[in-house]
Amino acid sequence: MTAPPPLLSGEAFKADPYPVYAYLREQAPVYCRASRDGAARMWFLTRYEDVSAALRDDIRFIKDVRATQTPAERAGARAAPPLYRLLTHHMLNADGATHGRLRALVNKAFSARQVEQLEPRLYTIAGDLLGRAMRHGALDYVHDFALPFSIAVIGELLGIPSRDHHRFRAWSHILVAPSADSDRNVRKTERLGQVMQDFAGYLAAVCAARRRMPQPDLISLLLAAEEAGDRLSEEELYSMVLLLTVVGHETSVFLLANQVLTLLAHPPLLHALRADRSLVVPAIEEFIRYDGPVERATMRFAAADIEWGEQVMRRGDAVSLVLASAHRDERAFDAPACYDLARIAPRHVGFGLGSHYCLGAPLARLEARVALNTFLDRLPHARLAVPRATLRWQTNPIVRGPRRLPLIWA
Ligand code: HEM
Repeated sequence: MTAPPPLLSGEAFKADPYPVYAYLREQAPVYCRASRDGAARMWFLTRYEDVSAALRDDIRFIKDVRATQTPAERAGARAAPPLYRLLTHHMLNADGATHGRLRALVNKAFSARQVEQLEPRLYTIAGDLLGRAMRHGALDYVHDFALPFSIAVIGELLGIPSRDHHRFRAWSHILVAPSADSDRNVRKTERLGQVMQDFAGYLAAVCAARRRMPQPDLISLLLAAEEAGDRLSEEELYSMVLLLTVVGHETSVFLLANQVLTLLAHPPLLHALRADRSLVVPAIEEFIRYDGPVERATMRFAAADIEWGEQVMRRGDAVSLVLASAHRDERAFDAPACYDLARIAPRHVGFGLGSHYCLGAPLARLEARVALNTFLDRLPHARLAVPRATLRWQTNPIVRGPRRLPLIWA
């Protein structure tokens, strides 16, 4: 009798995916899931060595699925409606020179030096938000702090007025919501069309205002790059802003939430960090390894037939690199299921590797540091208001984190 295929989605899986990944690392480290008719195939790589090698290999594992198709296949594929192209035509789905050009346009704004300048402002935002949330004697760390904080940070950077941050949050949420069944897919497609229209309309107005009067913000910088002769089309600009909005806060929210969750499960760690704040930086790196917010890298596609291990991936097959599993690989880390502040090597791959390495890593690390220090200052006696086993988890296949994180304190 063959074992049933492992569950790789759904709430029960997301509550604790680690046993399934441990099984795959041992039994099927290069694991293929095929559609019923066998036409669509998706591979899961779960060992650290495979995941890091594939992240670096942007020749064989590419992001733009169209580049894996023959002209005939491309002609036969359904063209996405123009507005939907905003969702897909950004650097995270681009390869080679196209990717390099798009990334170069925003690189400067995200450099460590540029980002450091935001630090005092971030402490003010974090202090205000947490102070406000604490007035009621209990709070939901995800909705009352991590979400508004992350969106405020990316909103500040882009130059979106704070009165409109809630709209960005709502749009982004709909764009990343998973579609579990076909009914929901239809509803989601209808909503997506509306969201894309609202979003494009809003951005058109912001861009027009910035063209009239540039500000020290990222949208003005992107417009200037466009006007300085670089070919950043209106569509590319919107797509870039959309990418930065979505990846710039959906991931950060769960970086902040997961680090608090891990902290509360390790009281000696909480004491150590309160006593010595120089430990905050290494603690954050280990939070990302131990239970980071990006469970799987975004989808890649086999550029040609690839022999990997004893398997053959066919041109066009989807490939999912499971970062969360790589981080628990016993071949790479000693006692990987334990949180260990003194851990040094190897480095985690929580921000990816290679050409698509997270552009926002310095900003994400700063957000994590500001949020953690603010938490240690203001909520040193916080604890979970509900049993951990009752927490509900995001079902999006890429991100990992709790939907709510109710806290109380003495
Ligand atoms: C602070 C806000 C953030 C911004 C603005 C941001 C931005 C980006 C961008 C633009 C990319 C695509 C880079 C490219 O294709 O060249 C990217 C990739 C990535 N980001 Fe971030 N990010 C942020 C936070 C985070 C956080 C908190 C994590 C997890 C700890 C994370 C993990 C990743 C990973 C794993 C990739 C690579 C995805 C892949 O190769 O499939 N990001 N990020």
